Amino acid sequence: MSIKDVIYAEAVASYTESHLVPSQPELEHAYTNSTAHGIPEIAISPAQGKFLSLLTTISGAKNVLELGTLGGYSGIWFSKALKARSSGKLTSIEIDAARRDVAVQNLEFAGVKVPEEVEILLGAGLDVLPRVAKEIEAGTRERFDFVFIDADWENQWNYFDWGVKLSKGKGAVIYVDNTVRELLENGSVGPNKKDPNVDSLVERVGKDERVDATVIQTVGSKSYDGFLLAVVR
Ligand code: DHB
Ligand code: MG
Repeated sequence: MSIKDVIYAEAVASYTESHLVPSQPELEHAYTNSTAHGIPEIAISPAQGKFLSLLTTISGAKNVLELGTLGGYSGIWFSKALKARSSGKLTSIEIDAARRDVAVQNLEFAGVKVPEEVEILLGAGLDVLPRVAKEIEAGTRERFDFVFIDADWENQWNYFDWGVKLSKGKGAVIYVDNTVRELLENGSVGPNKKDPNVDSLVERVGKDERVDATVIQTVGSKSYDGFLLAVVR
């Protein structure tokens, strides 16, 4: 790939999105209302939202778990995909109460019922996940078919491990956002000196007998990055 191709990435994103992911007022509102409330513009792109929605449909997922609600933009996409099949709900974990509040506004503006269709659990992922596990063990919460990890990058592996444990098992899907940027930042690949004590998500998943996985690199309106996609064996 030459740099010439990359400079067209944003134009290709906007051209393809204009034809395949036409702008929807409730999704536009989620972006603009989030920005108006000071939430950083790090939500997934429209094309990625559509991709996650297609993956939800392809996998037949009923119960989706999200780490990192942010302003609820991805939550709206998941909820639409689930509702199209009259199926299940999204459980989303968010550490920041102000972001949670904006997400509730954005979801409700999009006609999503909170908490019936999207339930937001407030707290740090590693505090909330053990509680979710207890509820699953007690039979008051269902296991997850699809796990979307889009929170603090240092904990990608911990969230992945929890995701596998809380999944329904064989065929469950785990999607980790920002995997490529994290690899470049932690120095596994690229300019940063690698800390020999850090095993990257990719190294750990590669050794993990519970799953089968790959990484796909991406360019687009969100620049250069990539995601890890795993299926539970
Ligand atoms: C950024 C992008 C993300 O998707 C994310 O989850 C966090 C940060 C960024 O562009 O900095
Ligand atoms: Mg992200």
